[in-house]
Amino acid sequence: MKDKLKIIIGKQALKKGVKELAHKISNDYKDKDPVLVGILKGSFIFMADLVRELQIPHKVDFISVASYGSGKCASGVVRWLKDLSINIEDKHVIIVEDIIDSGLTLNYIRNNLLTRNPKSLKIVTLLNKRRRRKIKIPLRYVGFFIANRFVVGYGLDYNEKYRNLPYIAQLKE
Ligand code: IMP
Ligand code: MG
Repeated sequence: MKDKLKIIIGKQALKKGVKELAHKISNDYKDKDPVLVGILKGSFIFMADLVRELQIPHKVDFISVASYGSGKCASGVVRWLKDLSINIEDKHVIIVEDIIDSGLTLNYIRNNLLTRNPKSLKIVTLLNKRRRRKIKIPLRYVGFFIANRFVVGYGLDYNEKYRNLPYIAQLKE
């Protein structure tokens, strides 16, 4: 059956939102040389656009975890697939996430990174599904609040499809 897509955040709105986030981060992290840690795979496009709008020196690294088996259901199980290559001890770290849903994945990652004694650890997420939160996490920067709908595009997938869409769309089957 063919999936139906409804655009909820268009290309221009995304561009503007990402630019604003980069502007705030650039102001807050002057002379701090932060390490931006992208959570693969979902954050790769957001990360690429975000760093190109940053006005300050910074470093980029990635980790990869598996939180959803496949499809739309959270398993609650987090598997560590790829670790950082940069030592973040005593560094200012910013986790770059595509979307926060239950918050379980990010909570796990955050706690793990905290054990490595960064100088600071903040989170930037492009999308926030606030009403689905199962665990409280401090979010420093949020691009867009969205309703409890499954979305794809701009890095986010459904069974590895739709990551390349230049907008965020709601998926309806
Ligand atoms: P959480 O642990 O429930 O917060 O799930 C977080 C991860 O699940 C995100 O980093 C995404 O990779 C994925 N995810 C959550 N909601 C969606 C969605 O609406 N579309 C695509 N992926 C999602
Ligand atoms: Mg993700």
